Amino acid sequence: MRIDVVSIFPEYLAALELSLIGKARQDGLLDLTVHNLREFTADRHRTVDDTPYGGGAGMVMKPEPWAQALESVRQDARPVLIVPSPAGAVFTQAMAHELAREEHLVFACGRYEGIDERVLEWAEGSFDVRPLSLGDYVLNGGEVAVLAIVEAVARLLPGVVGNPESLVEESHSDGLLEYPVYTKPSSWRGLDIPEVLLSGNHARIARFRRDEQLRRTASRRPDLLAKLDAGKLTPADLAVLAAEGYTVVHGRMAPAPPSSDS
Ligand code: ADE
Repeated sequence: MRIDVVSIFPEYLAALELSLIGKARQDGLLDLTVHNLREFTADRHRTVDDTPYGGGAGMVMKPEPWAQALESVRQDARPVLIVPSPAGAVFTQAMAHELAREEHLVFACGRYEGIDERVLEWAEGSFDVRPLSLGDYVLNGGEVAVLAIVEAVARLLPGVVGNPESLVEESHSDGLLEYPVYTKPSSWRGLDIPEVLLSGNHARIARFRRDEQLRRTASRRPDLLAKLDAGKLTPADLAVLAAEGYTVVHGRMAPAPPSSDS
């Protein structure tokens, strides 16, 4: 996979030289280049921003440096252009899997109040443009989002994570949060690990883990629980969720109405 990142703070992206992503680059699995937007300006001050038409606070990124930068990185047919923004669609694990199948990703890191909207319109001609948000909060620019999205995508590329098994049983892989994990010692500061994990009974351990996934998702992320297809849950799953206060309504899990005796 090839990735190009355009930013006015290329140093911010130095973290992409570390750990698994750095190793993937060294191993030739990922060809990642960071470009400084200021290299694509034509004036002495290397200006990238200006005041907004219509007034208002802050500065807006000028369109022409962006067009120059994006034209310089586009080589193949129609790369995906990711524009991190709190006004984008929320990035998910499903999107990470989708993006991991692409050949070329380009990231445009906005700063200030954002990039002149015409850049996105113009880019539609030669890129598959995707404004993406990390979540419902505001960062100062797209760089942190690029670090997060590149890491989520690159770890799914074949060969990047040593044991691909570890990608299967993790949070969000099946719409549920991950089960809790424990390591030695089995008793630590008065806290013992769940006894079932010492039983050697693989079926019981699998059931315990599944129950924990369901309980955690119900208590921490009821929004995820509501998206599950109840038809794919087993009677044992439904019993755990009933104990958490959930019932099936129109094929989905929903909070059970209060019972008449409570
Ligand atoms: N830039 C500023 N805020 C952001 C967010 N929440 N997600 C992605 N990019 C951003």
